[in-house]
Order: sequence, then structure tokens, then C-alpha cells
Amino acid sequence: MGHPCLLFLLIISCLGHEGLVKGALGFACNWGTRSSHPLPPDIVVKLIKDNGFNKVKLFEADPGALQALGNSGLQVMLGIPNEFLAPLSSTVRVAEEWVAKNVSYFVSNFGTDIRYVAVGNEPFLNAYNGSFLQTTFPAMQNVQAALIKAGLGRQVKVTVPLNADVYETENGLPSGGNFRPDIRDLMVNIIKFLSNNAAPLTINIYPFLSLNADPHFPKEYAFFNGNAAPVIDGSISYTNVLDANFDTLVSALEKNGFSNMPIIIGEVGWPTDGDPSANKANAQRFNQGLVERINRRQGTPKRPVPVDTYIFAIIDEDAKSIQPGSFERHWGVFNNDGTIKYSLNMGKGRSLVPAKGVRYLPKEWCVMSPQASLSDPNLPNSVAYACDHADCTSLSYGSSCSQLDAKSNVSYAFNAYFQTMNQSSSACKFSNLATVTTVDPSPPNQGNTRDGCRFAIMIDTSKRHRLARPPRTSSASPTIAHISCCHGITLLLALFVLILKY
Ligand SMILES: *[C@@H]1O[C@H](CO)[C@@H](O)[C@H](O)[C@H]1NC(C)=O
Ligand SMILES: *[C@@H]1O[C@H](CO)[C@@H](O)[C@H](O)[C@H]1NC(C)=O
Ligand SMILES: *[C@@H]1O[C@H](CO)[C@@H](O)[C@H](O)[C@H]1NC(C)=O
Ligand SMILES: *[C@@H]1O[C@H](CO)[C@@H](O)[C@H](O)[C@H]1NC(C)=O
Repeated sequence: MGHPCLLFLLIISCLGHEGLVKGALGFACNWGTRSSHPLPPDIVVKLIKDNGFNKVKLFEADPGALQALGNSGLQVMLGIPNEFLAPLSSTVRVAEEWVAKNVSYFVSNFGTDIRYVAVGNEPFLNAYNGSFLQTTFPAMQNVQAALIKAGLGRQVKVTVPLNADVYETENGLPSGGNFRPDIRDLMVNIIKFLSNNAAPLTINIYPFLSLNADPHFPKEYAFFNGNAAPVIDGSISYTNVLDANFDTLVSALEKNGFSNMPIIIGEVGWPTDGDPSANKANAQRFNQGLVERINRRQGTPKRPVPVDTYIFAIIDEDAKSIQPGSFERHWGVFNNDGTIKYSLNMGKGRSLVPAKGVRYLPKEWCVMSPQASLSDPNLPNSVAYACDHADCTSLSYGSSCSQLDAKSNVSYAFNAYFQTMNQSSSACKFSNLATVTTVDPSPPNQGNTRDGCRFAIMIDTSKRHRLARPPRTSSASPTIAHISCCHGITLLLALFVLILKY
């Protein structure tokens, strides 16, 4: 009789233990799905949870993701792409349909815990030339009305993730913060609306982009443990750009009568490839500092309260637009396949946990044929074609594969295409310039293990394997799954209770 009782005690103490850790951490992340071969959504959800995140932001209503997030314990911020702003702003009917299909459906059928709808993504970005200035606010109002009509007005709030370029500073210091003059009235109206709905303002802040855009930017100021000369603003001394940028917004809000407006950081992170400053060492340094701030529940000098901070991003997206730069496909804390890029201490000595159950295509690569010549007239077009249809950003200046010799450089492009095309034999032809090999062509690391150039094998996203997977352990043997989450102390405690009882 003692045995089942012990198991029972273990389960109770495990659940308590897990709940405690989650409450204490509260990491949030962005999950973008612009990948040629997206990881199966259930694997990503597990990856997110295993690493102590309890909130996730999606950029669009990806049905697979929303379903996998159902009853996961994760809170969801659901984004709406900018292309939807015009139709959503036109009539409430469109918004009602969007809410019915993309919110209510998942909330009621799958138990997806949607807390926010993020209407548009950085719609006032200067680069959009004002394309979304007329439609964003009406779209927000219509989505809000539709949520209320669907009976979700209390549990789901509308917000809008804005780029930090919606504000600027009049004196070069955070205290001089105010909204961009061309959108000041619009911003005030939107904030009034958010405030009336008890919804937060969402802002994306990118120290990497500040560093990247300005060759004179003091690099150390981008990090949290830097030794840049502090920026003195009255009685406050700023030692990093995230604090300074955030407090510029706080000042802008104060000047316009919204001192208490809650703020969420919708995106912040550091990429690992595609640019000289996008490397693993910098990304690790930045994200480690960020994680420590979150664990300390640290705010900024003007707002010393903790802020919900969505790390950008959980995984890489190899099919994202590289209009902002080659680094755009490399923001993930994890690679495309859920493997770890660099170590992070997530708190209490806990390290990152990689994705589990990922399937790969066979160990085959496509390389430039040994017989082919670098002066072959078909070569430039072949490489251009490969890189147009696959991700070659690791070859760009200052990136992980930029040191390859000319032949390996071509091989990298051919292989990227071959993998993206699921290793189809017709994808390794290139006018007879290419051949398939089972020998990994990745160059030796030469002491640089951090940013070594990787000729990756693509993951296998076909259904055939996934259906063949054994049933998930959580439903097959719940007791074992729970026991494995226990730490030694909890086990000892349970035993101790048992001893006392008998
Ligand atoms: C969301 O709703 C719209 C409107 O009903 C629909 O067209 C769309 O397919 C849905 N899904 C996404 C990803 O937006
Ligand atoms: C914005 O304007 C610039 C310059 O006129 C142009 O190059 C760019 O394509 C425009 N972008 C959009 C999104 O309209
Ligand atoms: C390698 O390939 C990329 C993509 O085609 C190209 O931009 C780059 O110039 C090449 N580098 C060398 C050294 O050949
Ligand atoms: C690769 O395989 C996956 C899974 O079967 C499929 O969804 C995808 O369309 C394929 N990609 C290409 C380019 O054939």
C-alpha cells in the first residue's frame, strides 16, 4: 500500500515545485514561423516551456501553433500582420470574422490562452512611408469591438507593437523624450484608447540595431555589463541603451499625460549571424544580461518595476525577408532545428534545454563537383539561383561562413538549396556542377568553436515520420513523467512525510 501513496505524494510535490519555478521566472518570447522547414509546433511549444518561458508572441494566426499552444499553460499574444490592417479597418464585420476564426475558435476548441491581440507589427516604422497611418487605429478599434462582441473583452486585450522610432528625444537625453511630431496626435489617441481598455503599450527595442546603424555608437553601451561612460541625465546615470531608450518612452508618456501607462517590451534580442556584430559571443553577452535583469525583476531608472519582456526570438527563421539585413534570419536563441547556439544561465544555474524529438533528413550534402571548374560560365547563375531560393546569409560579409574558399563557398550555396528542397536529387544538378556526398563538408573549426561554419542537414518535416512517433510520454505514463521533474530535495521531503505518517 505504501507504493502508490508515495507516487501520489511525489506528484503533488512535483506540481507544486513546477508551478513555483514558473511563477518566479516568467520569461516571454517571440515565435516566428517564416521557415522553409518549420519545427513541428508541438516540439516548439515543449522547447518554450522546457526553457522556463510562460508567455509567447506569434506574428500571425498560424493554426498549427495556436492549436499546439492549447492547454499548454502558455499565455499568448497573437499578432496580426500589417497587410490585414486595411481590411480590418474598413468594417467591424471583417474584424468579427477575424476574431471568430483566429481567436474564439482556438480559445473554445483548444483552450488556447490568448491574452492579447497585437494589431499590426511596427506599422508606424519610418520605412513604411506612412502606409499604415490611416488604418492602424481604426483596425484596433474594430478588433476590440469584435472581441467584446465575442464575449472576450475582459480576457483578451488589444495592443499594437511599435518600433522605438515612434519616439525621439528633444535634447539627446531620455528626459527629452516625446513622440515623433508627425504621429504625436495619433499616438495620443491610441494611448488614450489603450488606457481606457486597461491595455498596455507594446514597444520593440533593439540595441543591436542601434549599434548596427551607427558606426560611432559606443559598443559597450549596447550591453548590460559594459563599461561605457554613463550618460548623465539629471540625477540619473544611464549605463545601457535599453534603459535609456525605455525611459525616453516613459518621458514621452509623462509629457502627454500618461505617467502610469503600462508598457510591454514586445521584442528585444541579438542575432548570431549575417553581420560582423551579429555573432554568438555578442548574442550570449546581451541575452545573458537580459535574462539576469528579468530574473532580478529589474526595471529601468524611471520605472523600477519589472516589465514583460518578449525575447526575440525563440528560433531562427530561414525564410524571413532579409530587407533589414542578412542578420534577420538569425535572431533565435536556438537554431532552426531547436539546437542550442550558445549557453545561457537561465537562473539558479539552469541551462538551456534543446528541442526534443527532432527528425532530420539523411546525412547527405550537395557540394560543388570536384571536376567542375570555378571558371565555368554556368557557375554564377547557379549560385545566384541557389541563394535566391535558399538561405545563404551565413556567407555574407563578417558572417560564420564568410571565410570559406571559393569552391566551398559555392558548395555552401548548393547545399543550402539542396537541403531546402528536401535533398531531392534534382536539386543537386546545377548543370552538372554539383554532386551529392555523405561526407560532411563543414570546415574544421580551427579553434573557433563558437561561430564555426555549418553545412546543415535540414529537418524532416514530413508527416510520415511524425505519425510513426510513439505516443507522448505525458499521456502514456504520467507518473514517470512527473517523477523525472522532481529535484532530490522534493523526493527527500516526500519520503520524510511518508516516514512521519507511518
Ligand atoms: C484569420 O482570419 C481571416 C479572416 O477570417 C482568415 O482569412 C485567415 O485565414 C485567418 N488566419 C490567419 C492566419 O490570418
Ligand atoms: C518608401 O519610400 C522610399 C523612397 O521613396 C522607397 O524606396 C520605398 O520603397 C518606400 N517603401 C514603402 C514600403 O513604400
Ligand atoms: C560567396 O558566395 C556569396 C553568395 O553567392 C557571394 O556573395 C560571395 O561574394 C562569395 N564569396 C567568395 C569568397 O567567393
Ligand atoms: C519538403 O518536405 C515537406 C514535408 O513533406 C513539405 O511540406 C515541403 O513542401 C517540402 N519542400 C519542398 C521544397 O519540396
